[in-house]
Amino acid sequence: MMLISEKVDQFAHDTVKGLTSKTKYLLPKYFYNDRGSKIFQDIMGMPEYYLTNCEYDIFETKKQEIVAAISPGHSIFQLVELGAGDGLKSKLLLDAMMNQRQNFIYTPVDISKLALNELKSDLQKNLPDLKVKEYAGDFFTIMKNFAHENGIPRAVLFLGSNIGNFSNSETDLFFNLLSNMTHPGDKVLIGFDLKKSPITIMKAYDDKYGFSRDFNFNHLLRINDELGADFNTENFMHHVTYDPISGETKSYLISKKKNSVTLPLVDTEIRFEKWEPIFMELSRKYDTREIDSMASKYGFTVHAHFMDEKKYFTDCLWVKE
Ligand code: AVJ
Repeated sequence: MMLISEKVDQFAHDTVKGLTSKTKYLLPKYFYNDRGSKIFQDIMGMPEYYLTNCEYDIFETKKQEIVAAISPGHSIFQLVELGAGDGLKSKLLLDAMMNQRQNFIYTPVDISKLALNELKSDLQKNLPDLKVKEYAGDFFTIMKNFAHENGIPRAVLFLGSNIGNFSNSETDLFFNLLSNMTHPGDKVLIGFDLKKSPITIMKAYDDKYGFSRDFNFNHLLRINDELGADFNTENFMHHVTYDPISGETKSYLISKKKNSVTLPLVDTEIRFEKWEPIFMELSRKYDTREIDSMASKYGFTVHAHFMDEKKYFTDCLWVKE
């Protein structure tokens, strides 16, 4: 018998659960295997994926102000970054913090070990004096552990509109955990993508190079690799919608014909009707009114919105009450 590790087990469990639901879905956290993390870097590299460019612009132009706002003053603190990825943007902040001789420990958290290792070796080279303590894993689990540690002041970064992936109940869980792991006076900096022209949004999520499509196809290929499935990506098309009221950008893979896929390692067969969708990802867009009301709901005061010139994106600084 094959030994299935706990992590694969969770992946297998979540995959079967999603694909046997009435409306089929897969979870976005599983996009980021090594190949998926690489494709996501391609997405971030295209001019149409304005999110990364805007946030980079915000950090580049406002880093002094941001650093002054997130650091607690003279005491040592822990700078937690949830979903750090390749850390390209946070490097700008880290660099400014080191220049200001701030005393802190940088704690990047990410689901991808590869991304974390690359980040770590990059930091060792470029910021050798920086203290780094990284954690690989699902950040809901890691946040729960942080809540039990009672230590130095914290500042928490959750950048890049990672929050946009969360359903309403996950958003609620996330903010409750964030509230539990922070103390009065602690700061959080959260990146929200703002509502804007649907044309701009569609170009970022349904790009002409095919990166967004391949990012989604890679999820099916991961299921093939890890669960022995036989998905043929040619049977599926990528489709994106934007709802300007809710701000929900949703991506789907839609089966172009009736077909079935077997997952022998978990002894499951999945049938697809012609035009049946798999819901792949939610990338929610917000307006500042929605953001500010969430802050107060979870016990934070809005200290500042740091926005890019076009007001496409905000990095919002909240202080725990
Ligand atoms: C990493 C969740 C912020 O939703 O914009 C990019 C992921 N998916 N293109 C996003 C993604 C398709 C991204 N986040």
